[in-house]
Amino acid sequence: MFNSKITGIGHYVPNHIVTNHDLEKIMDTSDEWIQERTGIRERRFYKPPEKGSTAKMAFNASKMAMKRAGVTADDIDAIVFATLSPDYYFPGSGVLLQHMLEMGTKPAIDIRAQCSGFIYSLSVADQFIKTGMYNKILVIGSETQSVGIDLTTRGRDMSVLFGDGAGAVVLEATEEKGKGILSTHLYSQGEFAEALYKRDPGTGRENINYRGMHEDYECNSPQMDGQLVFKNAITRMPEATMEALAKNNLTTEDIDMFLPHQANLRISHTVQRFLKLPDEKVYNNIQKYGNTTAATLPILLSDLWEQGRIKEGQLFAIAAFGSGFTWASALIRW
Ligand SMILES: CC(C)(COP(=O)(O)OP(=O)(O)OC[C@H]1O[C@@H](n2cnc3c(N)ncnc32)[C@H](O)[C@@H]1OP(=O)(O)O)[C@@H](O)C(=O)NCCC(=O)NCCS
Repeated sequence: MFNSKITGIGHYVPNHIVTNHDLEKIMDTSDEWIQERTGIRERRFYKPPEKGSTAKMAFNASKMAMKRAGVTADDIDAIVFATLSPDYYFPGSGVLLQHMLEMGTKPAIDIRAQCSGFIYSLSVADQFIKTGMYNKILVIGSETQSVGIDLTTRGRDMSVLFGDGAGAVVLEATEEKGKGILSTHLYSQGEFAEALYKRDPGTGRENINYRGMHEDYECNSPQMDGQLVFKNAITRMPEATMEALAKNNLTTEDIDMFLPHQANLRISHTVQRFLKLPDEKVYNNIQKYGNTTAATLPILLSDLWEQGRIKEGQLFAIAAFGSGFTWASALIRW
């Protein structure tokens, strides 16, 4: 049986920077409120003339990941693509990326697990490699949040949090024992589906039609019980991380780097405290990108790769929590 390991990481964010001061001009908010409650200083949004989409950002991130892995699209056997903001309602963005990369008829699988989407996708790809079905898989998280959020005072509790971006990794089979993805741990709890959700264009309502969708604010913009999300995030991420460590007979002292999903800096700091990790073993970049949902973890990884902070033999723990609720963790030995 093979293991899977990450051999290349890439990311892409739109050029246009939106600071908290920019948001102050379009809604009743303040840089002070946003920084104090979330740690966010700025995020990236697509803005004309830059033309973009979830699949196009994924294309740019994939090119970088494949270049760093020393492979081309011809070498890739499949795509696993996580997003909550696909280009179309259907089909998913995976096939659009597959076409852009000129991958013939190779399969593209779309994963809908929101902020946990990247770890869910990594887990799916890892199983395909472990069973020997595929050898090299592109795993993507990509999000265009800026077009789906309400950038007025009415939607400020949600819209100040999110940003656009994409991250990608090349996952390859390896015969090296004890290297690569050591394990993944996935959870969901659908009773909380409506604690963080966007209802339309869902099919769960009768008489849904185009006009209805656009007249009904509650259904057409993301809704969140922020404090419930906060409370669950700070318990579920450490819980899943501890489970991953126990499964591999490791402890928090073995972790060289912990990457928490970037939902809110206060959430990351609380999780860090629960895990008793020193500052130098935790990396956050929400300050410059906001919450990029499924793209967050591969963007963090790509950032560290660029800084030369990923070293052979190191143990990374990653954890995420989000809409669903879904949550997940993984251990990676480089
Ligand atoms: C969203 C979040 C930052 C809000 O922080 P909070 O401390 O819970 O703040 P509250 O929702 O209680 O709001 C406090 C006040 O700030 C106001 N407020 C909300 N958003 C605001 C904004 N962008 N700017 C200024 N004021 C704002 C509220 O209206 C409220 O005012 P009131 O006291 O007069 O009623 C926080 O709940 C959170 O981070 N939750 C988790 C979010 C998350 O992770 N989501 C993604 C999941 S992966």
